[in-house]
Amino acid sequence: MTAFAAGASTLFLSAEKAAEVRERFGTPCYVYDRAILEATARQLLALPAPYGLTVRYAMKANPSRGILELFRELGLHVDASSDWEVERALAAGFRGEQIQLTSQMPSRRLAEHRARGVILNACSLYQLDAIGRVAPGGAIAVRMNPGLGSGSTKRTNTGGPASSFGIWHEHLAEVKAIAARHRLGIRTVHSHIGSGTDAEVWKRATRMTLDLVADLRDATTVNLGGGFKVGRMPEEPTVDMDEVAAHVAAELEAFRARDGRRLRVEIEPGTYLVARAGAVVATCVDVVDTGRQGYLFAKLDTGMNEVTRASLYGAQHPVDVLAKDREAAEVVFVGPCCESGDILTPAPGDPEALGPRWVPRPEIDDLVVVGGAGAYCAAMSTVNYNSYPQAPEVMLEPDGTLTLLRKRQTFEQMLANEIMGGPDMAPDHRTKGADAPLGLPRPQRSEPSRGVRGRTRETRDGPR
Ligand SMILES: Cc1ncc(COP(=O)(O)O)c(C=O)c1O
Repeated sequence: MTAFAAGASTLFLSAEKAAEVRERFGTPCYVYDRAILEATARQLLALPAPYGLTVRYAMKANPSRGILELFRELGLHVDASSDWEVERALAAGFRGEQIQLTSQMPSRRLAEHRARGVILNACSLYQLDAIGRVAPGGAIAVRMNPGLGSGSTKRTNTGGPASSFGIWHEHLAEVKAIAARHRLGIRTVHSHIGSGTDAEVWKRATRMTLDLVADLRDATTVNLGGGFKVGRMPEEPTVDMDEVAAHVAAELEAFRARDGRRLRVEIEPGTYLVARAGAVVATCVDVVDTGRQGYLFAKLDTGMNEVTRASLYGAQHPVDVLAKDREAAEVVFVGPCCESGDILTPAPGDPEALGPRWVPRPEIDDLVVVGGAGAYCAAMSTVNYNSYPQAPEVMLEPDGTLTLLRKRQTFEQMLANEIMGGPDMAPDHRTKGADAPLGLPRPQRSEPSRGVRGRTRETRDGPR
């Protein structure tokens, strides 16, 4: 059982403010704190880097326009994970050259992106060849899998032989051959080995990425990805970014000494920038128990729909019951979905088990705040499961006012794309770029390198 740390999630949200959120916007409702977002962005922008630093926000963590606009004004660039995220970044005012596209899905809009100056990050040999065919002769980035990965769970590990992300490091000769064939200049070498990475593994991956840069003579920039561990619960560690920066600086200086190049560095955090700046204000809608040998459950009007990470990864989020003068009780918090996996407090390290928390004994109608909900919550929600509408998003301003960023979805919006009048009424289902096949031949592939399977996969447990 996890001890309850009172106030853990309400660091930026007083009980009065949470009540105001419920009063004005209803629950569940996401709330973000502008002051924390800004302070975190400024902290990263001020990190020392010997030959220049770009902080690229991994917008998949939270693509809310209000957050994108804030980060743009502060001088961050973005990493987009799909053609659609490129569009969202442009809509939020980023210039094409401030956007990098790092997508598992081969882009269907390469020529358009290229014309707008978007940095295309080839994440596979196929993507590299596709970029070369559509936009030969330009500067690009390549995402490499350096052979090592680490994440808070296996599901957030994006490096090593068990990961499909990036180009396997042993295929460097093919990378060079394809780039040469299309006269592509590889300016940025990129790696992102996972979310919630272990600092030591990240450091080793940095060295391995620099070893790849050594072989790619056009490269001027190394992008070391994101993944910096953030503790949402009081007992969970948060990475020391000054230590990370010092390590990277030493690696870059050593690289300069042996290679001659002064590499600009990019980091690409999502979680670190937004996780602790968000919370979900919810209401306790029911309280049930399963007898003396069982559990006491508080049912909230939020759960897997707004904070999917708990049921998906067994991730831990602080949950505060905003009630005074109550006796404490051991409580399992669950969401409103007809799904036994809709648990907000799984046991730490065991997503299948229940993790009761000591909290003020909840009663129906209590205000409850789920903390650490700024990253991969609104962005990764299981929208409309059980037909609950998408929750609104609100910004808490430094002067205490609340600005609505996104309204609650209406019932009509939930049904908006359903075709009521039969197939003849169906409009063209192809939204711009949605389903069009890329139409490019697959590149010739060499045999997979031997020995790959035998390599050790590194996974660390801890918060994403
Ligand atoms: C390519 C890339 N960069 C950056 C990130 C950000 O990771 P995190 O939110 O853990 O910092 C991700 C997350 O999945 C990613 O895929």
